Amino acid sequence: MPSTNRQVRLAARPSGLPRPTDWEFTSEPAPAPGAGEFVVGVTHLSIDPAMRGWMNAGRSYVPPVDIGAVMRAGGIGRVTASEHPGFAVGDYVSGTFGVQEYCVSDGRGVLKLDTSLAEPTVYLGVLGATGLTAYFGLLDTGRLKEGDTVVVSGAAGAVGSVAGQIAKIKGGRVIGIAGGPEKCRLVTEEFGFDAAIDYRAPHLRRTLREFAPRGVDVYFDNVGGEILDDVLACIARGARIVICGAVSQYNESEVRGPANYMMLLVARASMTGMLVFDYADRYPEAMAELAGWYRAGRLVSRETVVSGSVEDFPETLLKLFEGANTGKMILAL
Ligand SMILES: NC(=O)c1ccc[n+]([C@@H]2O[C@H](COP(=O)([O-])OP(=O)(O)OC[C@H]3O[C@@H](n4cnc5c(N)ncnc54)[C@H](OP(=O)(O)O)[C@@H]3O)[C@@H](O)[C@H]2O)c1
Repeated sequence: MPSTNRQVRLAARPSGLPRPTDWEFTSEPAPAPGAGEFVVGVTHLSIDPAMRGWMNAGRSYVPPVDIGAVMRAGGIGRVTASEHPGFAVGDYVSGTFGVQEYCVSDGRGVLKLDTSLAEPTVYLGVLGATGLTAYFGLLDTGRLKEGDTVVVSGAAGAVGSVAGQIAKIKGGRVIGIAGGPEKCRLVTEEFGFDAAIDYRAPHLRRTLREFAPRGVDVYFDNVGGEILDDVLACIARGARIVICGAVSQYNESEVRGPANYMMLLVARASMTGMLVFDYADRYPEAMAELAGWYRAGRLVSRETVVSGSVEDFPETLLKLFEGANTGKMILAL
């Protein structure tokens, strides 16, 4: 049995990019399960842009992480001790275990993983919240139809790469937006998008008009900011804009809203925020479809796995905002 549990706690609310002084490393005795509980040894942490938002005070879709609390994080791990009839030692599980080495659970919100179908890390990517977000964002909020022209930002990232692949499976014409020529190559060659645009190169709006001469029917937005304005300038009549996230704004003290929003009126378009947790009762149907596509080789899961300890978490989180990842960013402990 392990003797200690190393943890990362929130020490201060950051302004801008999180700094080392915003974190505290602590260690406490490793937990033991009570009746109806089990202990998870965390093997992989999900590194998410949303973590930056959870560090802020103020209204959001989940309460902020308290100062002094273990940082919230999704993850996967193995059961190391169990007093729970539904979970046995050795089971692979996913859940919100926090940035720590061990977590006690009563099983609520914890899923057992079928490792015969996919490697455990895929359950943080295509077969986890990442894939579910792409699925419901595109098909439910975006109401994708066959033949639609679809644009996805953050296209080489976790959610974006899956959203584009699902759009292709459903018969869309798909254009990705990503940072740099290497990511653009990946977007077309590995994820199978029809085209990719490097937003760091000049004339994004002009290039988008060339690629989408009849306008954009669905925009799956992961980044917000200037790119959102550029895409708004190119929407088709009746377009659906899915606000999945706005990673370009998460470290800003003042969020830049869409200046070009009158295009919604011009094009009789809609812009709708979506949150994956709202679809919890439909996860089984989506998981079955995602797993079928994955098994058939129609969905590629890519993960960027950084190896380290919980103390490498602060550094790994920053890498997301530098664009160091392709596909899902994971810290392997
Ligand atoms: N609504 C929901 O339920 C839900 C659920 C999960 C995730 N999300 C959101 O989905 C989005 C994507 O999340 P993810 O986990 O898939 O992360 P991700 O896209 O894998 O990682 C972040 C990527 O964002 C890009 N980026 C960073 N700074 C940027 C900037 N200033 N401008 C443009 N792009 C920038 C980088 O790619 P480049 O190199 O291409 O810049 C980076 O690789 C986030 O906004 C997240 O909050 C929403």
